Amino acid sequence: MDTEGQFKGAKVTVIGAAGGIGQPLSLMLKANFKVGKLSLYDVSGTVSGVAMDLSHIDTPAHIEWFTPKNGGLKKALTGSEYVLVPAGVPRKPGMSRNDLFKINAGICAELATAIAEFSPNATTLVISNPVNSTVPVFVEILKRHGVFNARKLFGVTTLDSVRADTFLHRIKPEMKWGLIRVVGGHSGDTIVPLLSTVLGTEMNKVPREKIQAVVHHTQYGGDEVIKAKNGGGSSTLSMAYAANKFFCTVLNGRDQFSKDHVGCTYVCLEDESINGVSELKGLLRTFKKDQNLDMKYFAIPCVFGQHGIERVMYECLEKLHPYEKEMVEICCDSLPGNYEKGLEFTRTY
Ligand code: NAI
Repeated sequence: MDTEGQFKGAKVTVIGAAGGIGQPLSLMLKANFKVGKLSLYDVSGTVSGVAMDLSHIDTPAHIEWFTPKNGGLKKALTGSEYVLVPAGVPRKPGMSRNDLFKINAGICAELATAIAEFSPNATTLVISNPVNSTVPVFVEILKRHGVFNARKLFGVTTLDSVRADTFLHRIKPEMKWGLIRVVGGHSGDTIVPLLSTVLGTEMNKVPREKIQAVVHHTQYGGDEVIKAKNGGGSSTLSMAYAANKFFCTVLNGRDQFSKDHVGCTYVCLEDESINGVSELKGLLRTFKKDQNLDMKYFAIPCVFGQHGIERVMYECLEKLHPYEKEMVEICCDSLPGNYEKGLEFTRTY
Protein backbone atom coordinates (compact mmCIF):
# COMPACT_ATOMS: atom_id res chain seq x y z
CA MET A 1 0.00 0.00 0.00
CA ASP A 2 1.19 3.56 -0.55
CA THR A 3 0.73 6.43 1.91
CA GLU A 4 -2.79 7.16 0.68
CA GLY A 5 -3.96 3.61 1.27
CA GLN A 6 -4.05 2.80 -2.43
CA PHE A 7 -2.51 -0.38 -3.75
CA LYS A 8 0.71 0.45 -5.52
CA GLY A 9 0.78 -0.65 -9.13
CA ALA A 10 2.71 -3.89 -9.44
CA LYS A 11 5.88 -4.12 -11.46
CA VAL A 12 5.39 -6.97 -13.91
CA THR A 13 7.91 -8.45 -16.34
CA VAL A 14 6.89 -10.52 -19.36
CA ILE A 15 9.68 -12.66 -20.81
CA GLY A 16 8.92 -13.67 -24.38
CA ALA A 17 6.77 -10.55 -24.79
CA ALA A 18 7.07 -10.36 -28.59
CA GLY A 19 5.63 -13.85 -29.09
CA GLY A 20 2.22 -15.22 -29.94
CA ILE A 21 1.19 -15.38 -26.27
CA GLY A 22 3.45 -12.57 -25.07
CA GLN A 23 1.79 -9.87 -27.18
CA PRO A 24 -1.88 -10.38 -26.25
CA LEU A 25 -0.87 -11.12 -22.65
CA SER A 26 1.06 -7.85 -22.49
CA LEU A 27 -1.98 -6.08 -23.93
CA MET A 28 -4.17 -7.43 -21.13
CA LEU A 29 -1.59 -6.51 -18.50
CA LYS A 30 -1.35 -2.98 -19.91
CA ALA A 31 -5.14 -2.72 -19.60
CA ASN A 32 -4.95 -3.71 -15.91
CA PHE A 33 -5.04 -0.67 -13.60
CA LYS A 34 -3.25 -2.64 -10.88
CA VAL A 35 -0.13 -2.85 -13.04
CA GLY A 36 2.16 0.14 -12.48
CA LYS A 37 5.11 -0.86 -14.60
CA LEU A 38 5.22 -3.35 -17.44
CA SER A 39 8.64 -4.51 -18.48
CA LEU A 40 8.74 -6.37 -21.79
CA TYR A 41 11.70 -8.61 -22.61
CA ASP A 42 12.38 -10.77 -25.66
CA VAL A 43 15.41 -12.01 -27.58
CA SER A 44 13.61 -10.68 -30.66
CA GLY A 45 14.08 -6.97 -31.40
CA THR A 46 10.43 -6.73 -32.44
CA VAL A 47 9.65 -6.25 -28.75
CA SER A 48 10.50 -2.54 -29.20
CA GLY A 49 7.54 -2.17 -31.58
CA VAL A 50 5.25 -4.09 -29.25
CA ALA A 51 6.25 -1.73 -26.44
CA MET A 52 5.72 1.37 -28.59
CA ASP A 53 2.30 0.14 -29.68
CA LEU A 54 1.17 -0.64 -26.12
CA SER A 55 2.55 2.65 -24.77
CA HIS A 56 -0.23 4.54 -26.61
CA ILE A 57 -2.92 2.87 -24.50
CA ASP A 58 -4.56 5.19 -21.95
CA THR A 59 -3.82 3.26 -18.75
CA PRO A 60 -1.27 4.09 -16.03
CA ALA A 61 1.14 1.17 -16.58
CA HIS A 62 4.50 2.53 -17.66
CA ILE A 63 5.96 0.43 -20.48
CA GLU A 64 9.64 -0.35 -20.92
CA TRP A 65 11.33 -2.90 -23.18
CA PHE A 66 14.59 -4.80 -23.18
CA THR A 67 16.52 -7.27 -25.33
CA PRO A 68 19.90 -8.95 -24.78
CA LYS A 69 21.47 -5.98 -26.63
CA ASN A 70 19.46 -3.37 -24.74
CA GLY A 71 19.69 -3.69 -20.95
CA GLY A 72 19.20 -7.46 -20.95
CA LEU A 73 17.46 -9.53 -18.31
CA LYS A 74 19.09 -7.54 -15.53
CA LYS A 75 17.20 -4.36 -16.40
CA ALA A 76 14.04 -6.25 -17.35
CA LEU A 77 13.87 -8.07 -14.02
CA THR A 78 15.32 -5.76 -11.38
CA GLY A 79 12.59 -4.76 -8.92
CA SER A 80 9.97 -6.99 -10.51
CA GLU A 81 7.27 -8.43 -8.28
CA TYR A 82 5.71 -10.68 -10.91
CA VAL A 83 7.47 -12.43 -13.77
CA LEU A 84 5.37 -14.09 -16.48
CA VAL A 85 7.27 -16.46 -18.76
CA PRO A 86 5.78 -17.31 -22.17
CA ALA A 87 9.27 -17.65 -23.71
CA GLY A 88 10.40 -20.56 -25.84
CA VAL A 89 9.20 -22.48 -28.84
CA PRO A 90 5.58 -23.58 -29.31
CA ARG A 91 4.33 -26.87 -30.75
CA LYS A 92 3.95 -27.48 -34.47
CA PRO A 93 1.52 -30.01 -36.00
CA GLY A 94 2.41 -33.54 -34.87
CA MET A 95 4.53 -32.42 -31.90
CA SER A 96 3.79 -33.28 -28.29
CA ARG A 97 4.59 -30.88 -25.44
CA ASN A 98 7.43 -33.22 -24.50
CA ASP A 99 9.05 -32.70 -27.93
CA LEU A 100 9.61 -29.08 -26.89
CA PHE A 101 11.50 -30.00 -23.77
CA LYS A 102 15.05 -30.02 -25.14
CA ILE A 103 14.90 -26.43 -26.37
CA ASN A 104 12.65 -24.96 -23.72
CA ALA A 105 14.42 -26.56 -20.73
CA GLY A 106 17.62 -24.68 -21.60
CA ILE A 107 15.72 -21.42 -22.04
CA CYS A 108 13.92 -21.94 -18.71
CA ALA A 109 17.17 -22.71 -16.88
CA GLU A 110 18.74 -19.53 -18.26
CA LEU A 111 15.71 -17.45 -17.27
CA ALA A 112 15.46 -19.01 -13.80
CA THR A 113 19.12 -18.13 -13.21
CA ALA A 114 18.41 -14.52 -14.15
CA ILE A 115 15.31 -14.37 -11.95
CA ALA A 116 17.33 -15.76 -9.02
CA GLU A 117 19.93 -13.08 -9.56
CA PHE A 118 17.86 -10.00 -10.40
CA SER A 119 14.39 -10.51 -8.89
CA PRO A 120 14.84 -13.24 -6.25
CA ASN A 121 11.61 -12.36 -4.43
CA ALA A 122 9.41 -12.29 -7.51
CA THR A 123 6.35 -14.44 -7.97
CA THR A 124 6.94 -16.39 -11.17
CA LEU A 125 4.29 -17.75 -13.54
CA VAL A 126 5.71 -20.37 -15.91
CA ILE A 127 3.83 -20.71 -19.20
CA SER A 128 6.60 -22.30 -21.33
CA ASN A 129 5.83 -25.92 -22.18
CA PRO A 130 6.04 -28.71 -21.22
CA VAL A 131 4.92 -27.17 -17.92
CA ASN A 132 5.06 -30.58 -16.15
CA SER A 133 8.84 -30.58 -16.77
CA THR A 134 9.79 -26.89 -17.06
CA VAL A 135 8.46 -25.98 -13.60
CA PRO A 136 10.90 -28.45 -11.92
CA VAL A 137 13.70 -26.79 -13.92
CA PHE A 138 12.74 -23.42 -12.40
CA VAL A 139 12.44 -24.93 -8.93
CA GLU A 140 15.84 -26.63 -9.00
CA ILE A 141 17.67 -23.57 -10.36
CA LEU A 142 16.02 -21.24 -7.83
CA LYS A 143 16.90 -23.72 -5.05
CA ARG A 144 20.50 -23.79 -6.22
CA HIS A 145 20.59 -20.03 -5.69
CA GLY A 146 18.87 -20.33 -2.31
CA VAL A 147 15.81 -18.29 -3.36
CA PHE A 148 13.12 -20.89 -3.98
CA ASN A 149 9.75 -20.19 -2.39
CA ALA A 150 7.08 -22.83 -3.16
CA ARG A 151 4.32 -20.32 -2.41
CA LYS A 152 5.43 -18.13 -5.28
CA LEU A 153 6.27 -20.36 -8.22
CA PHE A 154 3.42 -21.53 -10.44
CA GLY A 155 3.01 -23.57 -13.58
CA VAL A 156 0.13 -21.95 -15.44
CA THR A 157 -2.53 -24.59 -16.13
CA THR A 158 -5.52 -22.22 -16.25
CA LEU A 159 -6.16 -22.94 -19.93
CA ASP A 160 -7.24 -26.45 -18.91
CA SER A 161 -9.90 -25.06 -16.54
CA VAL A 162 -10.96 -22.52 -19.17
CA ARG A 163 -11.35 -25.27 -21.77
CA ALA A 164 -13.18 -27.64 -19.41
CA ASP A 165 -15.62 -24.87 -18.54
CA THR A 166 -16.19 -23.98 -22.18
CA PHE A 167 -16.72 -27.53 -23.38
CA LEU A 168 -18.97 -28.52 -20.46
CA HIS A 169 -21.13 -25.47 -21.16
CA ARG A 170 -21.73 -26.70 -24.68
CA ILE A 171 -23.67 -29.63 -23.22
CA LYS A 172 -24.86 -28.01 -19.96
CA PRO A 173 -25.43 -24.31 -20.70
CA GLU A 174 -27.18 -23.78 -17.35
CA MET A 175 -24.02 -24.52 -15.29
CA LYS A 176 -22.32 -21.71 -13.35
CA TRP A 177 -19.14 -20.49 -15.02
CA GLY A 178 -15.65 -20.68 -13.60
CA LEU A 179 -15.96 -23.39 -10.99
CA ILE A 180 -14.43 -26.49 -12.61
CA ARG A 181 -11.26 -27.71 -10.93
CA VAL A 182 -8.67 -29.31 -13.17
CA VAL A 183 -5.98 -31.20 -11.28
CA GLY A 184 -2.89 -33.30 -12.02
CA GLY A 185 -0.67 -31.81 -14.68
CA HIS A 186 -0.70 -29.98 -17.99
CA SER A 187 -0.42 -32.50 -20.79
CA GLY A 188 -2.56 -35.33 -22.17
CA ASP A 189 -3.75 -37.81 -19.57
CA THR A 190 -2.17 -35.88 -16.69
CA ILE A 191 -4.92 -33.27 -17.20
CA VAL A 192 -7.79 -34.34 -14.94
CA PRO A 193 -10.93 -32.21 -15.19
CA LEU A 194 -13.11 -32.75 -12.13
CA LEU A 195 -16.47 -32.16 -13.77
CA SER A 196 -18.20 -33.37 -10.60
CA THR A 197 -17.12 -30.11 -8.95
CA VAL A 198 -19.94 -28.42 -10.87
CA LEU A 199 -22.16 -31.33 -11.91
CA GLY A 200 -22.39 -32.93 -8.45
CA THR A 201 -24.90 -35.78 -8.50
CA GLU A 202 -25.90 -34.76 -12.07
CA MET A 203 -22.66 -36.41 -13.14
CA ASN A 204 -24.40 -39.79 -13.22
CA LYS A 205 -27.30 -38.45 -15.27
CA VAL A 206 -25.13 -37.19 -18.14
CA PRO A 207 -24.31 -40.03 -20.57
CA ARG A 208 -20.79 -41.31 -19.93
CA GLU A 209 -19.72 -40.75 -23.55
CA LYS A 210 -20.62 -37.06 -23.25
CA ILE A 211 -18.51 -36.72 -20.10
CA GLN A 212 -15.66 -38.57 -21.78
CA ALA A 213 -15.90 -36.27 -24.81
CA VAL A 214 -15.61 -33.14 -22.61
CA VAL A 215 -12.62 -34.66 -20.79
CA HIS A 216 -10.89 -35.67 -24.02
CA HIS A 217 -11.54 -32.26 -25.61
CA THR A 218 -10.01 -30.60 -22.54
CA GLN A 219 -6.97 -32.89 -22.52
CA TYR A 220 -6.26 -32.56 -26.25
CA GLY A 221 -7.89 -29.22 -27.11
CA GLY A 222 -4.48 -27.71 -27.83
CA ASP A 223 -4.01 -30.13 -30.74
CA GLU A 224 -7.08 -28.91 -32.61
CA VAL A 225 -5.85 -25.31 -32.37
CA ILE A 226 -2.42 -26.29 -33.73
CA LYS A 227 -4.12 -28.15 -36.58
CA ALA A 228 -6.47 -25.27 -37.36
CA LYS A 229 -3.56 -22.78 -37.40
CA ASN A 230 -1.83 -25.13 -39.83
CA GLY A 231 1.78 -24.35 -38.91
CA GLY A 232 0.99 -20.80 -37.74
CA GLY A 233 1.44 -21.54 -34.01
CA SER A 234 -0.37 -23.05 -31.05
CA SER A 235 -2.95 -21.63 -28.61
CA THR A 236 -1.94 -18.03 -28.11
CA LEU A 237 -5.08 -15.93 -27.61
CA SER A 238 -6.91 -18.36 -25.31
CA MET A 239 -3.61 -18.92 -23.47
CA ALA A 240 -3.01 -15.19 -23.02
CA TYR A 241 -6.56 -14.90 -21.69
CA ALA A 242 -5.96 -17.80 -19.30
CA ALA A 243 -2.59 -16.49 -18.08
CA ASN A 244 -4.11 -13.08 -17.42
CA LYS A 245 -7.02 -14.69 -15.58
CA PHE A 246 -4.61 -16.58 -13.34
CA PHE A 247 -2.46 -13.48 -12.78
CA CYS A 248 -5.58 -11.57 -11.66
CA THR A 249 -6.40 -14.41 -9.23
CA VAL A 250 -2.91 -14.15 -7.72
CA LEU A 251 -3.26 -10.35 -7.47
CA ASN A 252 -6.66 -10.73 -5.79
CA GLY A 253 -4.86 -12.84 -3.19
CA ARG A 254 -2.20 -10.17 -2.72
CA ASP A 255 -4.93 -7.58 -2.23
CA GLN A 256 -6.73 -9.91 0.20
CA PHE A 257 -10.00 -10.04 -1.71
CA SER A 258 -12.32 -12.60 -0.20
CA LYS A 259 -13.48 -13.87 -3.60
CA ASP A 260 -11.87 -14.76 -6.94
CA HIS A 261 -8.64 -15.66 -5.18
CA VAL A 262 -8.76 -19.40 -5.90
CA GLY A 263 -7.24 -20.99 -8.96
CA CYS A 264 -5.69 -24.25 -10.13
CA THR A 265 -1.94 -24.29 -10.70
CA TYR A 266 0.91 -26.79 -11.02
CA VAL A 267 3.05 -26.54 -7.90
CA CYS A 268 5.99 -28.13 -6.13
CA LEU A 269 4.83 -30.16 -3.13
CA GLU A 270 8.07 -30.03 -1.21
CA ASP A 271 7.11 -27.42 1.38
CA GLU A 272 4.83 -29.21 3.82
CA SER A 273 4.47 -26.06 5.90
CA ILE A 274 1.97 -24.91 3.26
CA ASN A 275 -1.48 -25.67 4.55
CA GLY A 276 -2.92 -28.77 2.84
CA VAL A 277 0.25 -30.05 1.16
CA SER A 278 0.85 -33.01 3.46
CA GLU A 279 -2.87 -33.95 3.28
CA LEU A 280 -2.68 -33.82 -0.52
CA LYS A 281 0.39 -36.05 -0.60
CA GLY A 282 -1.32 -38.51 1.75
CA LEU A 283 -4.41 -38.63 -0.47
CA LEU A 284 -2.34 -39.20 -3.60
CA ARG A 285 -0.75 -42.22 -1.91
CA THR A 286 -4.19 -43.79 -1.63
CA PHE A 287 -4.79 -43.41 -5.38
CA LYS A 288 -1.63 -45.30 -6.20
CA LYS A 289 -2.17 -47.67 -3.28
CA ASP A 290 1.49 -47.03 -2.55
CA GLN A 291 2.42 -45.88 0.92
CA ASN A 292 5.83 -44.82 -0.36
CA LEU A 293 4.59 -42.61 -3.20
CA ASP A 294 6.10 -39.17 -2.76
CA MET A 295 4.42 -37.05 -5.43
CA LYS A 296 6.64 -34.03 -5.95
CA TYR A 297 4.48 -31.89 -8.26
CA PHE A 298 0.75 -31.63 -8.83
CA ALA A 299 -1.81 -29.18 -10.22
CA ILE A 300 -4.40 -28.40 -7.59
CA PRO A 301 -6.74 -25.54 -6.69
CA CYS A 302 -4.98 -23.11 -4.36
CA VAL A 303 -6.16 -20.22 -2.23
CA PHE A 304 -3.95 -17.19 -2.80
CA GLY A 305 -3.11 -14.63 -0.16
CA GLN A 306 -0.75 -11.74 0.43
CA HIS A 307 2.33 -13.93 0.16
CA GLY A 308 1.28 -16.35 -2.56
CA ILE A 309 -0.26 -19.76 -1.87
CA GLU A 310 -2.04 -19.77 1.45
CA ARG A 311 -3.68 -23.17 1.19
CA VAL A 312 -3.80 -26.13 -1.13
CA MET A 313 -7.39 -27.38 -1.57
CA TYR A 314 -6.66 -31.10 -1.26
CA GLU A 315 -10.28 -31.76 -0.27
CA CYS A 316 -11.36 -31.53 -3.93
CA LEU A 317 -9.89 -35.05 -4.30
CA GLU A 318 -11.76 -36.54 -1.37
CA LYS A 319 -15.11 -37.37 -2.96
CA LEU A 320 -14.50 -38.19 -6.57
CA HIS A 321 -16.73 -39.88 -9.10
CA PRO A 322 -15.30 -43.35 -9.94
CA TYR A 323 -14.41 -42.13 -13.47
CA GLU A 324 -12.44 -39.21 -12.00
CA LYS A 325 -10.74 -41.53 -9.55
CA GLU A 326 -9.59 -43.64 -12.47
CA MET A 327 -8.22 -40.54 -14.20
CA VAL A 328 -6.27 -39.46 -11.10
CA GLU A 329 -4.77 -42.95 -10.91
CA ILE A 330 -3.63 -42.73 -14.55
CA CYS A 331 -2.22 -39.25 -13.89
CA CYS A 332 -0.31 -40.51 -10.85
CA ASP A 333 1.35 -43.08 -13.14
CA SER A 334 2.33 -40.59 -15.87
CA LEU A 335 3.23 -37.45 -13.94
CA PRO A 336 6.39 -38.56 -12.06
CA GLY A 337 8.10 -39.39 -15.39
CA ASN A 338 7.30 -35.86 -16.61
CA TYR A 339 8.68 -34.01 -13.62
CA GLU A 340 11.66 -36.37 -13.32
CA LYS A 341 12.63 -35.24 -16.83
CA GLY A 342 12.99 -31.68 -15.54
CA LEU A 343 14.87 -32.81 -12.44
CA GLU A 344 17.21 -34.95 -14.55
CA PHE A 345 17.95 -32.02 -16.87
CA THR A 346 19.04 -29.77 -14.00
CA ARG A 347 21.39 -32.44 -12.59
CA THR A 348 23.69 -31.90 -15.55
CA TYR A 349 22.95 -28.23 -16.22
P1 NAI B 1 6.17 -17.88 -29.87
O1 NAI B 1 7.27 -18.54 -30.60
O2 NAI B 1 5.13 -17.16 -30.66
O3 NAI B 1 6.78 -16.85 -28.83
C1 NAI B 1 7.84 -17.17 -27.97
C2 NAI B 1 8.65 -15.92 -27.76
O4 NAI B 1 9.70 -16.27 -26.87
C3 NAI B 1 9.29 -15.39 -29.05
O5 NAI B 1 9.01 -14.01 -29.20
C4 NAI B 1 10.78 -15.63 -28.84
O6 NAI B 1 11.60 -14.66 -29.44
C5 NAI B 1 10.86 -15.60 -27.32
N1 NAI B 1 12.04 -16.25 -26.76
C6 NAI B 1 12.64 -17.40 -27.16
N2 NAI B 1 13.72 -17.65 -26.40
C7 NAI B 1 13.78 -16.66 -25.49
C8 NAI B 1 14.68 -16.35 -24.43
N3 NAI B 1 15.72 -17.13 -24.14
N4 NAI B 1 14.45 -15.24 -23.71
C9 NAI B 1 13.40 -14.44 -24.00
N5 NAI B 1 12.52 -14.67 -24.99
C10 NAI B 1 12.72 -15.77 -25.72
O7 NAI B 1 5.50 -18.98 -28.93
P2 NAI B 1 4.10 -18.88 -28.14
O8 NAI B 1 3.03 -19.42 -28.97
O9 NAI B 1 3.96 -17.51 -27.59
O10 NAI B 1 4.35 -19.95 -26.96
C11 NAI B 1 5.30 -19.71 -25.94
C12 NAI B 1 5.39 -20.91 -25.01
O11 NAI B 1 4.16 -21.10 -24.31
C13 NAI B 1 5.65 -22.23 -25.74
O12 NAI B 1 6.56 -22.99 -25.00
C14 NAI B 1 4.29 -22.90 -25.75
O13 NAI B 1 4.37 -24.29 -25.87
C15 NAI B 1 3.77 -22.47 -24.40
N6 NAI B 1 2.33 -22.61 -24.23
C16 NAI B 1 1.88 -22.87 -22.98
C17 NAI B 1 0.54 -23.06 -22.71
C18 NAI B 1 0.10 -23.35 -21.30
O14 NAI B 1 -1.09 -23.67 -21.13
N7 NAI B 1 0.93 -23.23 -20.28
C19 NAI B 1 -0.46 -23.01 -23.79
C20 NAI B 1 0.10 -22.65 -25.06
C21 NAI B 1 1.45 -22.49 -25.27
